[in-house]
Amino acid sequence: MKVSIIIPTYNEKENIPKLFERIFKVFNENKIDGEIIVVDDNSPDGTADVANKYSKNFPVKVITRKEEKGLASACVEGFKHAKGDIFIVMDADLQHPPEKIPELIFAIKKGADIAIASRYVGNFGLNLSLGRKLISKLASKLAETFFWEIKEIKDKESGFFAFKKEVIKDIELKPKGYKILLEILILGNYNKVKEIGYKFGKRYAGKSKMSFNVVFSYLIHLMSLLWRSGKLMKFLKFCIVGVIGVAINLAILYFLTNFGLYYMISGAVAIEASLLSNFFLNRIWTFRREAKHIGIGSAIVKDHITRLMGILINLICLFAFTELFHFYYIISMLIGIVASTLWNFIGNVRWVWKT
Ligand code: GDD
Ligand code: MN
Repeated sequence: MKVSIIIPTYNEKENIPKLFERIFKVFNENKIDGEIIVVDDNSPDGTADVANKYSKNFPVKVITRKEEKGLASACVEGFKHAKGDIFIVMDADLQHPPEKIPELIFAIKKGADIAIASRYVGNFGLNLSLGRKLISKLASKLAETFFWEIKEIKDKESGFFAFKKEVIKDIELKPKGYKILLEILILGNYNKVKEIGYKFGKRYAGKSKMSFNVVFSYLIHLMSLLWRSGKLMKFLKFCIVGVIGVAINLAILYFLTNFGLYYMISGAVAIEASLLSNFFLNRIWTFRREAKHIGIGSAIVKDHITRLMGILINLICLFAFTELFHFYYIISMLIGIVASTLWNFIGNVRWVWKT
């Protein structure tokens, strides 16, 4: 199996010789058929020239970008030129020890689709300032809030990882900032991820390019991932279905109450009617793709359990706000609907339609 190592660089001239030397040694000692692809953003220090000197005698390719800038997008450019079956991404500053490469490749050969060199596996310490540790933790928590399916992965922000080229086949990668792995974990096609502990070393030479801009890009990147992964769209659809449900709910509540029914009884009927319309609309629209893999029977059972608790939340609101705070009962119902919609959405995505 051929291996492509993709290295984004910006002003890393002094690190290149040492980095290449260590990578070639690893290639030789482990009989790895590998190539190195450097993607440089026209570094003023001449990183590209230094790297290019190796390309005559070694499997090194240097790509210089002039229009675009950024670590993650540089990696995507590198993927386009890579000829390997396994792609490995790593930094140029030797914070990512090349000696871990064989272990990453081994994990892939053993069946992992993605193998991550992880700063949070084993007891290696982080080598980051307190401020950066904190930012890193916060960033990770934020990603987990929206993308709970990758919660189990400890180092989602790692810049050192390997994957089978099929993982990103036919996938449009458009990362901003630093987090190329996050982009692949959220959009890629894969089953098994393996994490391998390593010691995140100190920079050999030069300076980190981490800045406030990178933190800001991260937030933009998360928003873009929410959109491109289809999650935001799902929530919008769920809300539209919910609005239709609200209309049905209020209409029934109003008419039945006007016909002389006690408002708590008409409220219960109204909830049941909107609940059914929500389920079927979500099934044929919001979760159409998921619904193909899920039997309607189990979905209905799970949905009813979820929504039964939703109804409880809704009724408690209807009662509490009307009786305790003397709200108009229609308003109380609206509050109940908002609370139960949030509950129901979480239940729907994470349980009812979980494939
Ligand atoms: N082409 C290109 N363009 N490369 C860049 C750019 C850019 O705009 N910015 C940074 N790089 C290159 C650097 O030259 C280096 O090789 C690598 O990307 C990492 O940059 P650093 O500035 O050293 O990042 P870091 O040490 O703060 O953080 C790295 O390691 C963490 C742990 O794995 C990054 O890879 C993080 O994403 C990662 O979480
Ligand atoms: Mn670094």
